[in-house]
Amino acid sequence: MDRLIYFDNNATTPLDPEVLEAMMPYFTTHYANASSLTHRAGRAAAAAVDAARERVAALIGATHQEITFTSGATEAINMAIKGVFEHYQSKGKHVISCRTEHKAVLDTLAYLEKKGAEVTYLPVSADGNIDLDALDSAIRPDTIMVALMHANNETGVLHPIARIAELTTKHQTLFFCDATQAAGKIEIDVRDTGPDLLCLSAHKFYGPKGAGALFVRRRSKRIQTGALLHGGGQENKRRAGTLNVPGIVGLGKAAEMARQRLAEEARRLAALRDILETTLAKLPATVVNGQGASRLPHVSNITFKHLRADQIMMSVPDIALASGSACVSGTRDPSHVLMAMGLSASDAHASLRFSMGRFNTEAEVHTAIRQLTSAVEQLRASSPIWQLHKAGLVK
Ligand SMILES: Cc1ncc(COP(=O)(O)O)c(C=O)c1O
Repeated sequence: MDRLIYFDNNATTPLDPEVLEAMMPYFTTHYANASSLTHRAGRAAAAAVDAARERVAALIGATHQEITFTSGATEAINMAIKGVFEHYQSKGKHVISCRTEHKAVLDTLAYLEKKGAEVTYLPVSADGNIDLDALDSAIRPDTIMVALMHANNETGVLHPIARIAELTTKHQTLFFCDATQAAGKIEIDVRDTGPDLLCLSAHKFYGPKGAGALFVRRRSKRIQTGALLHGGGQENKRRAGTLNVPGIVGLGKAAEMARQRLAEEARRLAALRDILETTLAKLPATVVNGQGASRLPHVSNITFKHLRADQIMMSVPDIALASGSACVSGTRDPSHVLMAMGLSASDAHASLRFSMGRFNTEAEVHTAIRQLTSAVEQLRASSPIWQLHKAGLVK
């Protein structure tokens, strides 16, 4: 693994050593159950959970009462979407989402469709964004929720969260936002406006796997979501089960570090991303997907036409890249996100995701550019389709 250039930070990030250090005592000396308030060891664990809750709240401008700890974003998404659907059926069963959402949202909605939900999936433009007028006119009196992500995991394209929130407020419906890829990377402030429910996941911003959170607005609204897991009544009866204290402490530490470094890290990674994109885009028939949209600073999705992403990845074994999202890789289906943006199946299969992170260096970017350029040129040199393309016989 030593020489691996890790450009798969959207799948998961490495644990920051400072986060590990903060978590360690909660595996060893402070092992008590955070609900065991009858003794001081339990109270110490509870205090660590409280501190973590404050740190997670601070990352998104929430209050600690608005944060429920979960096992990650998938659980928070299920809790939010199923919870709202269950509690708002007297208003209606209509939900609005988008074709480019993560499978955790799409599959939860598909499950609810079997239970009677009616879901409108908004299309996206070639740059991967929704049309706000289309959203405005799709909202009906029986629409109980709009579920739209903040940043797309495959392309980094950002939805206009503030504008979406204006529309959901105007129509008095709820806005759930999957901010798994945005939290800790770009500024999120739910203080006065923005989504009513929002999820995040520690392992996407240098925290541990298996720890996440759901924000549910409580200051200005009473939103009912109920519980997904029933049992001991932890998390104010919102999520039963013994708290994962080390994971929660790690999430809190990672949230605090992300908040402190966010602006500087975004600037540094955007500069690296720009070097990567502008250099690779000089290769012929190479397209940066979502380039015209507002995007996360560290993500690039690039189509190397007339090649297959898996061929390229095999030719650069020392670079960790992704084609499509990690959750669906291993399947042969082209990316549903790129297809929704209008790419052909063969162009979608020819696309790679580069997601950079805290521990990547400029030297790695230059090495990756060299290796990729030579891989793409060699593969194309021996490709009959490329010869036809050069002869002008295929586009
Ligand atoms: C946009 C988005 N939503 C949800 C998830 C699921 O997150 P978790 O692994 O915390 O369940 C991911 C992870 O890939 C993601 O990128």
